[in-house]
Amino acid sequence: MKKLIVGNWKSNKTIESSRSWLESFSQHVSEFEDNAEIVIAPPFPLLSLVGGQAAGLGFKLGIQDLSQFDAGSYTGAVSIHNLQDLGVSYAILGHSERRRYFRETDHDVAGKVAQAISAGIVPLVCIDESYISSQAAAIEDDHLSQCVVVYEPLAAIGTGDNADVGNVKEVAEKIRLAFGDVKILYGGSTNSQNVGEYTLVVDGVLVGTASLDAKEFAKLVINAV
Ligand code: PGA
Repeated sequence: MKKLIVGNWKSNKTIESSRSWLESFSQHVSEFEDNAEIVIAPPFPLLSLVGGQAAGLGFKLGIQDLSQFDAGSYTGAVSIHNLQDLGVSYAILGHSERRRYFRETDHDVAGKVAQAISAGIVPLVCIDESYISSQAAAIEDDHLSQCVVVYEPLAAIGTGDNADVGNVKEVAEKIRLAFGDVKILYGGSTNSQNVGEYTLVVDGVLVGTASLDAKEFAKLVINAV
């Protein structure tokens, strides 16, 4: 099965630096085999620019958050209605940075999952190892099997201290008990050197820092399969 490689740009990049990234990435596309599904999740203001190149460069478009509400009076929130025609395929939901800095609750995340599914967007639900059962329990039963679940240990995010592969394997088992037979990704300080260890035990990776440099991200994609 194709490995899923998701680049999460977080709140980085401008129009200009996104253009440079796309230009640099385009020089490596011919080196990829067809056995990885690549997703780039830029900040909302860059969706249109990055999405415009997605088909040509062989990646899908992702978002890093989504409103749990429909279109309406929700200042600052981005609803599925706003995203129509932008070609968004995946949504990173419940990232630990959203839970920590924006106080997102399991209930909020469940609402976002429901919105994504109703719009045909695949939810990439980030979970915490200590709360897998309660985070799964908050999500509607018939939505669980439609999620891709991402295991990102807090200590590994942006620290260079990537998790032990044995631990990732164990947590993947726990995720399957709670969510069923879903795709599972690992995230946390993955790079082109260590990605191959993780794609042996899970279905792909969520990549932060190493996705910001197009050449490093391209190398990561090549080494992931
Ligand atoms: P990192 O971030 O690769 O920089 O550790 C991963 C993530 O938070 O998605």
